[in-house]
Amino acid sequence: MTVIYRDEHGDLNVLNGKRVCLIGYGSLGRPLALNLRDSGVNLVIGVRAEPSKELAQSDGMTAVSVVEAVKNADVIILMLPDEVMPQVYLEQISPHLRRGQTLIFSSAYNITYRFIEPPPFVDVGLIAPRAIGPAIRETIESGEGYCSFVSVAQDSSGQAWKVVLALAKAMGALQAGAIEISFEQESELDLFMQQAVLPALHHILTTAAQLLLNKGYPPEAAFTELYLSGEFSYLMQQVAAHGLLNTLRRLPLKSQYGAISRLDRFSDMKLERLMEVTLEEIHSTDFAREWAKDYADGQRRLQTFYKNQRGLELWELEQQTLELLGRETDEDT
Ligand SMILES: NC(=O)c1ccc[n+]([C@@H]2O[C@H](COP(=O)([O-])OP(=O)(O)OC[C@H]3O[C@@H](n4cnc5c(N)ncnc54)[C@H](OP(=O)(O)O)[C@@H]3O)[C@@H](O)[C@H]2O)c1
Repeated sequence: MTVIYRDEHGDLNVLNGKRVCLIGYGSLGRPLALNLRDSGVNLVIGVRAEPSKELAQSDGMTAVSVVEAVKNADVIILMLPDEVMPQVYLEQISPHLRRGQTLIFSSAYNITYRFIEPPPFVDVGLIAPRAIGPAIRETIESGEGYCSFVSVAQDSSGQAWKVVLALAKAMGALQAGAIEISFEQESELDLFMQQAVLPALHHILTTAAQLLLNKGYPPEAAFTELYLSGEFSYLMQQVAAHGLLNTLRRLPLKSQYGAISRLDRFSDMKLERLMEVTLEEIHSTDFAREWAKDYADGQRRLQTFYKNQRGLELWELEQQTLELLGRETDEDT
């Protein structure tokens, strides 16, 4: 049966006397560090260079080099980009590991695909927020909290779960409920969302936009109707709060009828098979190897994709609409 941990399952006293270091002060590391500090955790930040160090210090944190942080810590939280983490781990973390330490990841990727293989004498845990960086702080301040996944891959000390749940509580990760899953499941679900659901959604929105433009609708009106008004994201917030079917039921009757009566029309898309193939690539490690190769190759395929998209009229019209609406535009995309 699926286990969901909440605040009452984490005991902050477990962290008494423990020195915690958090390596990397980026979009996820910073808000989690602020939550840990506000919970009274004895925290040091491990950074590589001045800008991050200054930012951490201006937040009132103690910031030292990665090696110094690791040497003096009982718990090491890795908040580095997944692509650089294996090398930093190999050169600056693993040589200094000792029995009794706990490694905490916020993404299971490097453990699942064996880019990092910790020694058997440390504990290995996972606290994976299902929220983007800024929301970590905002939802804690608003009292809503954020959902997360938690796991233990290695329990050398016999205390790993206690430490994971105490840290998760201190990060605010238990407030809205933390679901226990395996490292493999976290990696695969995360990649599946990125590689099956997001591209399908992208395709639906671009197909709709292109069709409306071809039929002569003003681009500003088409993009606004489809997603720039925020109505669509509001609908998704309602889905998060009430579920898919209940959200449908809350729409005006005509909208409900229109959506339900046309639902089957779109069931012929070979979505399920395409999603299955995508999941197989993720599960078989084909994707992880493919991305490692492209990353090592200077991200050639990724950059080619953006180069090909840049010339499309659709994105020019989208940018013009963003400007018209007074939104921030990003020239690089
Ligand atoms: N962002 C999210 O919303 C989110 C959500 C869930 C899980 N995660 C997971 O959280 C982890 C961190 O992701 P992130 O998005 O926070 O990354 P990020 O914003 O790119 O932050 C990276 C941090 O790592 C530091 N860094 C980069 N290369 C380094 C190196 N070679 N040596 C030492 N420090 C280095 C950067 O320091 P500098 O300032 O010096 O560049 C920066 O402080 C990843 O495992 C990711 O999968 C992220």
